Amino acid sequence: PLPPAHPAVPRVIAHRGASASAPENTLAAFRRAHALGAPWVEFDVKLTADGRPVVFHDATLDRTTDGHGPVADTPLAAFGDLDAGQWFDPAFAGELVPTLEEVLDLLVEMGMGANIELKPDPGREAETASVCLDVARELWPADAPPLLVSSFSPVALAVAREMTPQWPRGLVLEALTDDWQAGAAAVEAWSVHCAAELLSARGVAEVLDAGYRVMVYTVNDPGRAANLWDWGVDSIITDRPEALLPLAGA
Ligand code: G3P
Ligand code: MG
Repeated sequence: PLPPAHPAVPRVIAHRGASASAPENTLAAFRRAHALGAPWVEFDVKLTADGRPVVFHDATLDRTTDGHGPVADTPLAAFGDLDAGQWFDPAFAGELVPTLEEVLDLLVEMGMGANIELKPDPGREAETASVCLDVARELWPADAPPLLVSSFSPVALAVAREMTPQWPRGLVLEALTDDWQAGAAAVEAWSVHCAAELLSARGVAEVLDAGYRVMVYTVNDPGRAANLWDWGVDSIITDRPEALLPLAGA
């Protein structure tokens, strides 16, 4: 059996919900993650044209909805007309882009934990963090497991350090750069989130030795996950929680 990663953060986290079997970042994907037994989900959040937080990955609507153009040019009211499920499978037609409020309410109702990834458009880093964390502070119960607040943006994480010091911060990187440690220290990160493809056993050891937890994205193959856990990785972010949970133990 694996040693515990942290009292709250589990070994397996469902990436954008259970995004291999439901359309990513929708309420359906979060419900599906829960049904599959995932204790936590990861999701992305960014701002609409009128500065409201929606749970959405890309800068533009085109890949995951039937709309077009930048999210940052689209007001919240227009999201009600967008289908966020049909592209994935006609069985999910009618699924909407959820607001941050809707996602947090659902996760609280289901008793799930979350890694909220702040995904600002360039130039809106501080605004995105401030708006999203204001909403999260309001809705996330004090007795729930703390939210893990992550971002590629050091600016967003610096806002998080000020606004929600009670929640751990995760610095998301693609690869470990020579100066990753300065970046993690600057925002007082709790964890470092690395892309699996670019990570080595030596890199994992380096992060652990520096006192940070190691989270890895996006791993869907159980053999690869077992290998990463052997290296000492704390948590794996996966599109297929059903494939990894049987290996993760309790
Ligand atoms: O938070 C981990 C992972 O989700 C970062 O990459 O592009 O899937 O948001 P991305
Ligand atoms: Mg993400």
